[in-house]
Amino acid sequence: MLKKVLQQSRTFHRHLSNAYLASHQAAVASPSVFSRSWFLPSFSTSSSSSNTSSIEHLDDAKDSESPPAFSISIDRSGLHNPPEHPHEPNSDSDIVKHLKGIIKFRGGPISVAEYMEEVLTNPKAGFYINRDVFGAEGDFITSPEVSQMFGELIGVWVMCLWEQMGQPKGVNLIELGPGRGTLMADLLRGASKFANFIESLHVHLVECSPALQKLQHQNLKCIDQDNSAETTNKRTVSSLAGTPVSWHAALEQVPSALPSIIIAHEFFDALPVHQFQRTSRGWCEKMIDVAEDSSFRFVLSPQPTPATLYLLKRCKWATNEDLTKLDQIEVCPKAMELTEAIAKRISSDGGGALIIDYGSNGVVSDSLQAIRKHKFVNILDDPGSADLSAYVDFPSIRHSAEQVSDVSVHGPITQSEFLGSLGINFRVEALLEDCTEEQAESLRTGYWRLVGDGEAPFWEGPDESVPIGMGNRYLATAIVNKKQGVPVPFQ
Ligand SMILES: C[S@@+](CC[C@H](N)C(=O)[O-])C[C@H]1O[C@@H](n2cnc3c(N)ncnc32)[C@H](O)[C@@H]1O
Repeated sequence: MLKKVLQQSRTFHRHLSNAYLASHQAAVASPSVFSRSWFLPSFSTSSSSSNTSSIEHLDDAKDSESPPAFSISIDRSGLHNPPEHPHEPNSDSDIVKHLKGIIKFRGGPISVAEYMEEVLTNPKAGFYINRDVFGAEGDFITSPEVSQMFGELIGVWVMCLWEQMGQPKGVNLIELGPGRGTLMADLLRGASKFANFIESLHVHLVECSPALQKLQHQNLKCIDQDNSAETTNKRTVSSLAGTPVSWHAALEQVPSALPSIIIAHEFFDALPVHQFQRTSRGWCEKMIDVAEDSSFRFVLSPQPTPATLYLLKRCKWATNEDLTKLDQIEVCPKAMELTEAIAKRISSDGGGALIIDYGSNGVVSDSLQAIRKHKFVNILDDPGSADLSAYVDFPSIRHSAEQVSDVSVHGPITQSEFLGSLGINFRVEALLEDCTEEQAESLRTGYWRLVGDGEAPFWEGPDESVPIGMGNRYLATAIVNKKQGVPVPFQ
């Protein structure tokens, strides 16, 4: 099929269903609607970030000239004891009260990773948990919301891999963090004419947010069928393609045994990162504490923390030259563990995974950022009301996957190379043949946002709506079972 797709790409893209043309218009109409990669802080080696508060050293930690001590011990005596606040403002939100409660209960600061995890996914008050955060009305926009072509081309990738897998009759198509469900809806709609492929699929959505699960159910036009009087036999089917759909809170809950095709778009960047800073006494972990005035503040750990193990692991995968340039390093243990779990599933059950995210093909320095209503805000300001995300460390994904036998890792390549090789030019041409002027404008804007780099080259529209591209800021990597050979378009 790969040959067929790539040789006859023009014909193939005409065969993708056009029925849903340009329903993403509103999302791309305004240039102020931006993705999470917009204007990222550069990887400065300085110890301060424009996006963060200043860092306070804990007074009682000894400063010495000695190199980093990497033995692991946790000495809580050196940690700052937050003052009691008998008249604490009771205007604190639930998540702020919860975070302060953890810090108070521990008798010391928490890691940036723990803060990030609570802020994003706390089951009661996390950023993602209770609402729709995407699009012009939300906080940021993602590629599937920019244009239907994104989900359709991911569908082409999935179909090509399914061909390489020998067209198995049963496949778990798993999406991690599906947001509104737009990518999967466009994928199923686009692929709905390819009956053998569609009939082989069981869609599994891994989503922690009940509000977003509901939205995914709606956007996939799901119908709940009661197969029998017993509710355990309830089956949910997407009427877009007649495909069964199930929801899970974590990848481990998705049934194994069938081959899996896993998609993770802008999922890894939401996983919690630990931040380390080089000091005269070695690498110290950046922690979050409560200041005298009851606001949050950054402090540095006086001793190595448990996450130092992951820092050591990450440093082993880097060159000395890379490391000496950096004063700050971010590591994401959850990304390493998730990648290993993905690779193990692919190794035992067959299939592959596609990870697309904004990130770096090297060690990540200080990239953590907060976005509220399409504007950057301070990471510590009103937690739970802003998205937090960090650059994805692609080499760390590669090394974590390569620890598992029988899988191979490909890429990263840029999003524009990825979408270009899968035929986005043919797809946009096919869609432009039969659309209104308004839809055509939206398609062109969406196209440039997906594959352009910086301000769109050759842009012919008005200056004030010049699209800023995600083409080189987003990277794609694939992990596949070696039996499948090299996946499209990573050859
Ligand atoms: C940045 S959004 C990306 C959404 C979608 N992939 C897109 O591109 O539009 C992250 C998604 O992952 C979900 N998510 C974040 N952390 C999660 C976790 N630990 N477990 C399950 N879902 C999570 C969020 O609720 C959201 O749906």
